[in-house]
Amino acid sequence: MSHADTSLVEQLSTNSLPYADPLAKLDWSALDMNKPWLPEGAISLTGLPEFNNLPEAVRIRLSQFEFTGFIHAGIWLEGIFIERLARNQRNTISSQELTYYLHEIREEAGHSLMFLKLMETSGIHLPGAWRNRPVITDFLGRHTPLHSTLFWLAVTIGEEIPDRLNRFIRSHGGSAIDGVIHQMCTLHIIDEARHIAHARGALEASLRDIGTTKRRLLTPLLDLMIRQFTRTFYLPSGDVYEMAGLAPGKKWREMARHNPARQAFVLKCLNPTLNMLREHGFAVADPTL
Ligand SMILES: [Fe+2]
Ligand SMILES: [Fe+2]
Repeated sequence: MSHADTSLVEQLSTNSLPYADPLAKLDWSALDMNKPWLPEGAISLTGLPEFNNLPEAVRIRLSQFEFTGFIHAGIWLEGIFIERLARNQRNTISSQELTYYLHEIREEAGHSLMFLKLMETSGIHLPGAWRNRPVITDFLGRHTPLHSTLFWLAVTIGEEIPDRLNRFIRSHGGSAIDGVIHQMCTLHIIDEARHIAHARGALEASLRDIGTTKRRLLTPLLDLMIRQFTRTFYLPSGDVYEMAGLAPGKKWREMARHNPARQAFVLKCLNPTLNMLREHGFAVADPTL
């Protein structure tokens, strides 16, 4: 069993205070439905001539639906984190760890609540909160033994892969995107920086006990999880395109999947995570959409 250092956990809990409820902090009345929710570089079709030919209103609507698909997947994943963090309490953990886990549960619940509030305020909904979840990653996320290396690998990449997109939206969105969305992404990445520091700390602790053979054996599973997380968060499903007015959705999704600019964007976002894993001895592949 591996845990992050107590001093790290204590520091992160201190940094979690004071807690700011994102529902109360964001000015929901300022949401402007005429503004994009993603900077152009983060839209899945950017770079394709077919995208440049779309009317501006369709491009804005697509950015809003793609962002909604992204946070829908966030609700799925944060649900797994909350479930696992709550189950951690059954193990014999220190009160410092328990404190940290409760902070993280509160923060993830706050994120999912702000996602739901955005859907309610904007009226943009996608069917089914548990839609299109990747089956194997979902299973591994829920059932991998607590505190194993595989567990901390899954947590680390699950936190980092969506966070990279939030960071891009925040740093490249500026005044070009809606201010509420920009602030949402800012609040989210501030909390995620602590979650990622914790996950990386626990992962490093767990790696002290495992050698190169086990790392090699875990790599195919890691590749699979990276691919599934990447598709879930970076490749919108067909109905996202259809609801934005682009039919048939399957065709547009395939265009995004084979879009060289999208593939390059994904790799640029994921490289820090992939490189960190490679430095730890996991020879992971670049994921394809
Ligand atoms: Fe979150
Ligand atoms: Fe998180």
